[in-house]
Amino acid sequence: MRTYPESFWADLYTSFPLLADELGDRDLAGTTACVLGCSDGKFVIPLAGAGCQVTCVDVDPIMLDGGEIRYRGETVTLRGLRSNLDRTGLLDRCELIETDFMRWRTDRTFDFVLTSGSWAYNRNLEHGLSGVLAVMQRLVASGGYLFADYLLPVTEMERGIDLYPQPEDLQPFFPEPPWRLIHNEGVGLIGESHYGQEEWHHHNYGALLAQRVA
Ligand SMILES: C[S@@+](CC[C@H](N)C(=O)[O-])C[C@H]1O[C@@H](n2cnc3c(N)ncnc32)[C@H](O)[C@@H]1O
Repeated sequence: MRTYPESFWADLYTSFPLLADELGDRDLAGTTACVLGCSDGKFVIPLAGAGCQVTCVDVDPIMLDGGEIRYRGETVTLRGLRSNLDRTGLLDRCELIETDFMRWRTDRTFDFVLTSGSWAYNRNLEHGLSGVLAVMQRLVASGGYLFADYLLPVTEMERGIDLYPQPEDLQPFFPEPPWRLIHNEGVGLIGESHYGQEEWHHHNYGALLAQRVA
């Protein structure tokens, strides 16, 4: 399972292959996933393509439905998730929800709950690390997986924000049982320029993959 190469975010680092490796050649037909901060489908499209029913949550209407943004000094038209699903024939496997996932209320649980680089968005600061983890964890069904690309701190300012955790800060949230912590480590510094932070900078990525075993 590979990330969608036409995503606007395709070039950003991800540890998604850890989840893909864990699943191996498991048939995903009949499973469910929830992608928090789904954007335009980098993870949604491979999961839906593998047979999963995907609930896609993002607060940004342009990432979901397309539109124009200013990027690298130009006006750029983004296709958006709905259009990417349409052109890949996967629209009927997905449900799109435009909302802040920290305020989204649902009783549903999912076999796979994913997010990538979303925790440290300004809108999530008021909720802190325990808040975002609580939201993600309660969405995970028994036997299901939680996957996150997160950011370790690089700057002094980031060191003061718990949404830039060290791997050891995450460990207490995943006691075994009910969790099996499969991966939780720093990946290292990766240089990037992307929408929202266009000047060349380094992110210190972390990878989290856990399974709810009970
Ligand atoms: C860095 S982008 C990455 C996009 C996507 N994960 C990917 O790699 O293709 C993070 C996305 O998370 C979304 N996001 C961040 N916090 C959110 C929140 N509280 N509720 C909904 N979406 C959120 C942003 O709108 C953005 O589309």
